[in-house]
Amino acid sequence: MNLRSGRLKGQMSGEVADFTSSLQFDVRIFQADVQCNQAHTTMLMEQGIISRQIGERILSALAELEKEGIDALDLNPAVEDIHMAVENYVTSKIGSDAGFMHTAKSRNDQVATDLRIALKEEIQEIQRELLIFIDTIVEMAQEHLDTLMVGYTHLQHAQPTTFAHHLLSYAQALKRDYGRLQDAYQRMDLCPLGSAALTTTSFPINRNRTAELLGFSGPMENSIDGVSSRDFIAETVFALTLLGTTLSKISEELIIWSTYEFRMVELADEFSSTSSIMPQKKNPDVAEIVRGKTAVLNGELVTILTIIKSLPQSYNRDLQEVTPHLWKATDTLSAALKITREMLASAEFKSERGAELARANFSAATELADLMVREGNLPFRTAHQIVGRSVSIALDKGMKAEDIDAQFLDEISKELTGETLGIDESIVKKALDPHEIIRSRNVIGGPAPSQVKEVIVNLKKFIQENHS
Ligand code: ARG
Repeated sequence: MNLRSGRLKGQMSGEVADFTSSLQFDVRIFQADVQCNQAHTTMLMEQGIISRQIGERILSALAELEKEGIDALDLNPAVEDIHMAVENYVTSKIGSDAGFMHTAKSRNDQVATDLRIALKEEIQEIQRELLIFIDTIVEMAQEHLDTLMVGYTHLQHAQPTTFAHHLLSYAQALKRDYGRLQDAYQRMDLCPLGSAALTTTSFPINRNRTAELLGFSGPMENSIDGVSSRDFIAETVFALTLLGTTLSKISEELIIWSTYEFRMVELADEFSSTSSIMPQKKNPDVAEIVRGKTAVLNGELVTILTIIKSLPQSYNRDLQEVTPHLWKATDTLSAALKITREMLASAEFKSERGAELARANFSAATELADLMVREGNLPFRTAHQIVGRSVSIALDKGMKAEDIDAQFLDEISKELTGETLGIDESIVKKALDPHEIIRSRNVIGGPAPSQVKEVIVNLKKFIQENHS
């Protein structure tokens, strides 16, 4: 039966039907929509709102559709959306009694329910991938507990650290991304079905039952909110956008680190391209594509927020336009997530180069100043000045960090404070050794291998606890 035949006389032109139909992206909620109809019909039967006999016929038609799949539906844009396409299918199987399926139900609560069902599944899939990613990083970190590298601030050499310590900073970011998705999941785990168009219904429906049948933790408590709200989509896409930001940052570092200037990483050939004209080239195209594609998420987030920001409460058709941006965001993110993990896992960290950079360019300077505080009882600010001046003079004289010794520091201290430091040469040398520096940063969150090992244990526990 044509939905329009009651109230409306004219049909939409093909162009208008194309423009307004959601069928193209409703494909993503097909299964959820069948489940939604099944749960609703079952509840209507149990409540005695529709007869058992009609209910069973509707359910068997839905079971048949489940088996046949979406191809069994007429997806002509004139049908408007997946909800009408499913109803039309059931009508084609059992005749006009199919109309009982829509008792106490609206497409408004149905689409809100379907989206929650489908998105919950997507989130769980992305979370599974995230755990694999964190596990991959943990495995890599275990191999690099003592692998030196220089840490940067302002992209300038700052202090020595280890590759494990750096890698695990990604793992923590990904763990928070996981948590944000978990939060969004919990809030969306409430069922709008039964809100009907906006004010529920006078039929004695059982909303707890449909929520239970559909795997929700309970029904939503306000029916206007049930059909109006899409903040569950906005916050999920925000969480995905931040996750995309994490992936983009990882890619950015792989791109920089694989330059000739850094030479810290060699990307696998499988994740590199060459040039059509410059035969020597090995380009980090995959990382660049991740960096580029994750920008799509930022755009989708802003689009979604913009669509929902000025809508009056309850259902407005604008809400339909949120959906394709949601799926674009989940698809983009899912692809980038898997590929970034594989690319990172296959990259080779150049340990010798890491050690060379960790020793170069006075990255031990902070430790030297700390040494003066500890051994020479100087205020940190004074020690900072002495070391700063030492580096400045060393640079003028073309000295390297390892050329700095106790006597050199004494001379500068004398000049600046009138006193020598009297620190033992062996202690100065120790302060310049990056391995010593790392071992001595034995503070929660620091690069000392003992600390890093503890974090690895915590992360493994996190993976295990969340593994389904
Ligand atoms: N295709 C619509 C959407 O995605 C389904 C709800 C339609 N409701 C309506 N009153 N036209 O939002």
